[in-house]
Amino acid sequence: MFRSRVLPDLTATEAFAACISARLMAGDTVLLSGEIGAGKTSFARAVIRARMGAEIDVPSPTYTLVQTYAARDVEIWHADLYRLGDPDEVAELGLDAALGSAICLIEWSDRLQGAGPAGALSLSFDAGAEGHRVTATGPEVWDSRIGACLD
Ligand SMILES: Nc1ncnc2c1ncn2[C@@H]1O[C@H](COP(=O)(O)OP(=O)(O)OP(=O)(O)O)[C@@H](O)[C@H]1O
Ligand SMILES: [Mg+2]
Repeated sequence: MFRSRVLPDLTATEAFAACISARLMAGDTVLLSGEIGAGKTSFARAVIRARMGAEIDVPSPTYTLVQTYAARDVEIWHADLYRLGDPDEVAELGLDAALGSAICLIEWSDRLQGAGPAGALSLSFDAGAEGHRVTATGPEVWDSRIGACLD
């Protein structure tokens, strides 16, 4: 798929994230890219809160690299690989084992060797004059699964 839309403010990002959150299943990976401050963590935080059904604290995993959350029906892994030293650390973190069973939201996934699972949904964020733009790419199946969130 290749779809894009403008998110004019944080509230729009949160609504978009809630829409995506409701459509994610165990085993799904969402790769979040974009410059520093583009809104990757804001998106992930809103996905996690929507799935948890509570306004829980969702810190950026900048230093811990991963934070995990036990939602009612699925585990959610939130990773920020910006400070990943060596791709081998992915196994040490347990992230490679989580891929395919948890919902994995991964910031700076370009640090991964092979850049993540083939079936992943990629969301690229870009803060521009018109607001923050999100562009969704990935296998065509995502179009039917999350296309409504981009209308
Ligand atoms: N659609 C939006 N419109 C305007 N501002 C937004 C929007 N979405 C998020 N923001 C704001 O932009 C900033 C994005 O910060 P955030 O930490 O989410 O970025 P990030 O991409 O995770 O950065 P980093 O690479 O440092 O982890 C926050 O201050 C947030 O409130
Ligand atoms: Mg971030």
